[in-house]
Amino acid sequence: MTDSREKKPNSSNVAAANQAWGGRFHEPVDAFVARFTASVQFDRRLYREDIQGSIAHAQMLAEVDVLNVDERDQIIAGLEYIEEQISAGNFAWSVAREDVHMNIEAALTERIGSVGKKLHTGRSRNDQVATDIRLWLRHQIDDLTLLVGQLQRGIIILASQHHDTIMPGFTHLQTAQPVTFGHHLLAWNEMLERDFSRLIDCRERLNQCPLGSAALAGTTYPIDRQSSADKLGFAKPSENSLDSVSDRDFAIEFCSAASILMTHLSRISEELILWTSAQFNFIHLPDRFCTGSSIMPQKKNPDVPELVRGKTARVTGNLVALLTLMKSQPLAYNKDNQEDKEPLFDSVDTLADCLRAFADMIPAIVANKDAMYSAAKAGFSTATDLADYLVGRGIAFRDAHEIVGKSVAYGVEKARDLSDMSLGELQQFSSEINIDIFDVLTLEGSVAARSHLGGTAPDAVKAAAVRALARLEQR
Ligand code: ARG
Repeated sequence: MTDSREKKPNSSNVAAANQAWGGRFHEPVDAFVARFTASVQFDRRLYREDIQGSIAHAQMLAEVDVLNVDERDQIIAGLEYIEEQISAGNFAWSVAREDVHMNIEAALTERIGSVGKKLHTGRSRNDQVATDIRLWLRHQIDDLTLLVGQLQRGIIILASQHHDTIMPGFTHLQTAQPVTFGHHLLAWNEMLERDFSRLIDCRERLNQCPLGSAALAGTTYPIDRQSSADKLGFAKPSENSLDSVSDRDFAIEFCSAASILMTHLSRISEELILWTSAQFNFIHLPDRFCTGSSIMPQKKNPDVPELVRGKTARVTGNLVALLTLMKSQPLAYNKDNQEDKEPLFDSVDTLADCLRAFADMIPAIVANKDAMYSAAKAGFSTATDLADYLVGRGIAFRDAHEIVGKSVAYGVEKARDLSDMSLGELQQFSSEINIDIFDVLTLEGSVAARSHLGGTAPDAVKAAAVRALARLEQR
């Protein structure tokens, strides 16, 4: 996140010729163009990774005798000083110096003299920025996966507490069959488990070092790409210089994983919003996650889930922005790519905030068990169980379906659930119905009968929660 102590870029001398590439120019860049083409306003957020990459590059250059040890040490000390200054908010960012890379390089030369000008030997901003974003995103993914795990832990613990809390399960948002609340919660956990593994996959694919690709074709210096990659903790150097400077797949892939994750959070949000309504009344969210209305004194609005649902739109928008940015781009680097950062940063920030909000909120959910139970009972949710019972007595499923349909119609007329009818009433519809039907028609009997792996029975849910927690511990 941008350190609020960092100074805002200063654009007073935007018309000054840019030291880094001004050689072939006859007039200073137009002040508006300088501002328009600059990225320092947002890419200064990469300063730590930019300095980390530069230090590794300087060390590698000394290993292959392109720099001597003294030059290397001056460069590294200068970069470390600049990093401290930026972190302390004492660095004057300049729009005239265009981006984070040239701001730092110019400051280095100001501090240590012309030795600073040797740092850029054998590299370009094209491989530099490709390296910086990968380093930055790798770090962000590490933080985000921890947040996903924290949220999952909260969900799993709540699920084991509610392994036998009965609620209606829905299809088409109509009462379908009874399920346990714990089972429903563990469905959320599975969604997040896949999100976690998508982030890990993305991290693995992005973990290649572009340094040495230079502008696009590589470099004539005797560089050691393996050494640069090792120093920065990359799994290996990237294979092709043209690809390395122009590839933004990793940003698209991250934004895609982030969009799917946000889509999951939006689905969970939607359920929380429904469940807190007076019409459902299945759960309470503590006041600290809600706000009131300025006009309607009775209101307690589920703002946190609503906002997470809403923020899904911007994360999906960022994915579409990056896909559109890269569509039809010819090799290799194009300035278009400067537009990759803001959507990527925004997706990371939004996702981190939403995960944090959810990780705090989910464990605080209070289930209204009575309301859940009555709702499950109200919708003839054990009708399928009656049909299955009849099939067990030798009746064909289609006939059983018909018999149960008639019993439900009778129940609707009398405003009584199947389990509330007498044996005599039920036997009007089939003589195969016996007293043991009541073990089947109760909500408890219905969920307990689904005790296979992945089923909603309390015992199955308890075991699933134990497995889910073990999976989490193994990460
Ligand atoms: N600020 C640029 C970006 O973010 C850095 C790379 C610029 N390279 C160039 N050849 N102009 O993409």
